[in-house]
Amino acid sequence: MTDEIATLSSAPDAPIAHQNTRKVFIKTYGCQMNVYDSDRMQDALAKDGYVATDVMEDADLVLLNTCHIREKAAEKVYSALGRLRELKKKKAGEGREMMIGVAGCVAQAEGDEILRRAPAVDLVIGPQTYHRLPQALERVKRGERVLETDYAIEDKFEHLPAPEKAKTRARGVTAFLTVQEGCDKFCSFCVVPYTRGSEVSRPVEQIVAEARKLVEGGVRELTLLGQNVNAWHGAGPDGVEWGLGELLHHLAGIEGLARLRYTTSHPRDMDDGLIAAHRDLPQLMPYLHLPVQSGSDRILKAMNRRHTAAEYLALIERIKKARPDLALSGDFIVGFPGETDEDFEDTLKLVEAVGYAQAFSFKYSTRPGTPGADLKDQVPEDVKAKRLERLQALLLKQQHAFNEMCIGREIDLLLEKPGRMPGQLIGRSPWLQSVNVDAKSSQIGDIIRVRITGTGPNSLFAEVAS
Ligand code: 5AD
Ligand code: SF4
Repeated sequence: MTDEIATLSSAPDAPIAHQNTRKVFIKTYGCQMNVYDSDRMQDALAKDGYVATDVMEDADLVLLNTCHIREKAAEKVYSALGRLRELKKKKAGEGREMMIGVAGCVAQAEGDEILRRAPAVDLVIGPQTYHRLPQALERVKRGERVLETDYAIEDKFEHLPAPEKAKTRARGVTAFLTVQEGCDKFCSFCVVPYTRGSEVSRPVEQIVAEARKLVEGGVRELTLLGQNVNAWHGAGPDGVEWGLGELLHHLAGIEGLARLRYTTSHPRDMDDGLIAAHRDLPQLMPYLHLPVQSGSDRILKAMNRRHTAAEYLALIERIKKARPDLALSGDFIVGFPGETDEDFEDTLKLVEAVGYAQAFSFKYSTRPGTPGADLKDQVPEDVKAKRLERLQALLLKQQHAFNEMCIGREIDLLLEKPGRMPGQLIGRSPWLQSVNVDAKSSQIGDIIRVRITGTGPNSLFAEVAS
């Protein structure tokens, strides 16, 4: 999944803290699923009397929800823990205790090492065991250092609280909903199958109940999450096995739910039912994150992607036939072991052929325990850096071209949050662009018709269409 988010998770609608209320500060690294998980952890802790704070110094409990996808992401955790150790010491000197917990994929992958390297850490908890958080904290209070990383993945979905705060609209008009977790694809560069485990789909009833609750709370746009979301499957109420396409059809029937998205998909799992959903459901937004990683068949094979560049391009053609205004986003890795200049040129060719509206690109990062780590022919860092620079320049050019193409067009805009200027709101376009428009805050949650008038570095500008 796209893992460019690092947010502070705090509930603006949290009850006002009394002096002896316990406070939790959660720092979220990595992908949207971690954002979703942080909210669920917060909900589990709220039941235990914790309120959220966005001031780390005030917290009785600091949780780092970590990402292990690339080396740099994991390193960030250890440097954050170094700073936290100092804070913990300072607070102890003032007679205030602070607990430190590490959650997420680094916790799952390197739990023992965290406890060894970072003595200030009280608790290590993996992504499938968050429902055991309150009990784990009890054990910490009794003086234990807790490692909670053993799991049966089904437990998580059964026991985690559904979004509690949804009814107040405080979490906004867009929301994530995890429908699937884990991955069985075993791309040779990727740690996800090891950190998040094998694929598990949430049952339809659970998903629908959570979706309804979110919509009752004011959510207009739902993004279904999964590491390999289009592998979702489950028994429908009709007794027939459903794929993601059928699930989207069903969710589209929820009154008040205006928009649906899903992420992240593997090209091999885009089945006919899902492509048909792109054709039949106006609620399904015309924007698809479909990572390809490389444009070279040789490298795709070494990556164990199990498709060719031509198959990927043909697939895009089919989906675009179903939904002609579809825009694409993707993920790319440069410098996978053995990647030659020629292989890299093939990636640039594929990017030229697709024309992405947005994309994420990374230098290959060796992940211990993955098959890629044992491959010879590792590409030197300076070569990776040069390739990444060229690829990103091309992707940025395409992103700008896509945004420019929108100028003059009338689109539906979901008004999401206050803008920078008074009297302005920021909305979300069907293609996931941020758009500034003059509108009243009472209109948040409305979908209005606007004309795009210009583009800025990170957002577009629009006027209300008459
Ligand atoms: N090195 C670099 N990028 C990686 N990704 C996953 N594993 C690695 C790795 N070892 C990228 C892929 C994936 C995205 C979430 O992160 O592009 O789609
Ligand atoms: Fe990782 Fe590949 Fe699974 Fe995506 S499909 S999570 S890249 S193993």
